[in-house]
Amino acid sequence: MQFTLNTGQANAVEIVTGPNVSGDLKEWLGKYLTGCEEVFLLADSNTREYCVPRVISLVPSLQKAEVLEVPAGEKSKSIETAGQLWNALADKGASRQSLLICLGGGVVTDLGGFVASTFKRGIPFIHIPTSLLGMVDAAIGGKTAINLGNIKNQVGTFHQPEAIFIYPGFLETLNAYELMSGVAEVIKTALVADAPLWKKITSIPLKEIIQKKSSRELEDIISGTVAVKCSIVEKDFRETGLRGILNFGHTLGHAFETLSHQNNSKHLSHGHAVALGMICESHLSGLKAGFEQNIQNELERMIFPDYEYYPIKNEDVDFIMDTLVHDKKRKDSVNRFTLVKSPGNAIPGVECTPAEIKESMEHYRTLNKQ
Ligand code: GLY
Repeated sequence: MQFTLNTGQANAVEIVTGPNVSGDLKEWLGKYLTGCEEVFLLADSNTREYCVPRVISLVPSLQKAEVLEVPAGEKSKSIETAGQLWNALADKGASRQSLLICLGGGVVTDLGGFVASTFKRGIPFIHIPTSLLGMVDAAIGGKTAINLGNIKNQVGTFHQPEAIFIYPGFLETLNAYELMSGVAEVIKTALVADAPLWKKITSIPLKEIIQKKSSRELEDIISGTVAVKCSIVEKDFRETGLRGILNFGHTLGHAFETLSHQNNSKHLSHGHAVALGMICESHLSGLKAGFEQNIQNELERMIFPDYEYYPIKNEDVDFIMDTLVHDKKRKDSVNRFTLVKSPGNAIPGVECTPAEIKESMEHYRTLNKQ
């Protein structure tokens, strides 16, 4: 399947998805590399081991690419790692005629996009997402970012890659937890923007389809989610309004994620944190936007027991409230949330009071069945 994402701001982005993507990638690179001086392949320690050999076997001309490796994990989305990559690119003579290929999950595409969009005021890059989360969300739409300390995505740019190649075969390298991280973004996209997609994913054995890692149904879910995201990004690339609906579950989700990095507990993956954030924000949606209780219940049944409950103590509620001060959507000292009215119908930027936010966390805490 092929999409063109045209935001009218820069180049239109070609997005190709499906099992035969290697042919398209080969053809695209064949044309592109003719005018290109150096090719860099950014990977993390996991994708270097499992995906770099695969992509080189699919596209042998990439043997000449210089591989840049960063440690796997959220900690690599830092100014220190970005600095190391800028230095590596400078040392190896990268120029605006070079190409950076970002091969990895959301960390690699966010970080690589940020480094490429700032080095020499921007060098061309492409994304080859290897996680489900990257395929359906992080790699699509031109958001690049690094974290500032523990605060997520505080520094970044809006900058489109030249192209995105989504090869579902890479999902075979992922475990169940990583796959479920991506499922959260599928659920979110359907709930905020596409009632038919919501209906579909609530009426099929979604988890089983995903865990099989390879099927026509899975490809349809990926391309369906990509299509919805593209249609939103095309209308509002710089997130002045509509695109904010894609933040559903993310305001409290990011706070949960930060909390899990702060506590010496198991770190929550981004998607897992978003799943828990959606529980709280759907409760807020019930309070403030008339989101029906039966759909809230349906969402909760989709999330538990597939995502482990993450316990929050009283002091964690205070920590989360402090973290929300850094949220990018906060305005005039008031936090704003994307809330859902009904499947496919969400409203960005709804002001919520600290009492309402705390109530949503109290609701979450009642769901602890442990
Ligand atoms: N991940 C949300 C967005 O791209 O806007």
